Amino acid sequence: MTRLLLSILLLPAAVLAGGTWWTDPDRIAFGETVFDAKCMGCHHPEVKAFGPSFRWIASRRTPAEIYAYIVSPAALSSERGYASNSMPHLPLTREETLAAAAYVYSFRGGDPDNGGTKK
Ligand code: HEC
Repeated sequence: MTRLLLSILLLPAAVLAGGTWWTDPDRIAFGETVFDAKCMGCHHPEVKAFGPSFRWIASRRTPAEIYAYIVSPAALSSERGYASNSMPHLPLTREETLAAAAYVYSFRGGDPDNGGTKK
């Protein structure tokens, strides 16, 4: 009984400490390798390149929105305010996509206007 009560009381703390898919440090580290292989030609994490910087993206989008864009850029570009879509759909596994999204989101913070894109 005490053990049951304890596990109920500790559950929210465990959830907080455990984080979610986008806070897992191993996944973020794997996301950096995906970035090096698949995104670096067009994105810089902190500075605008061909695409917006990850800092700019992370301060405006949720992790789920970032994930969705990586999966379907053509379907989402106009509702995100882009005049045209230049990001291709990349053939990534689900885990690579989750990792890339977690890596993008890890740049949340700092100057949200750094590395913006002209729409
Ligand atoms: C060929 C160039 C290119 C590559 C490769 C590319 N992107 Fe992009 N990305 C862009 C451009 C340009 C935009 C701006 C919107 C558009 O044109 O679709 C963009 C937009 C985005 C957005 C959405 C921004 C928003 O406003 O919500 C995310 C997220 C993103 N890229 C992540 C990635 C990740 C992660 C990778 C690698 C797995 C990647 N991109 C690879 C060019 C690229």
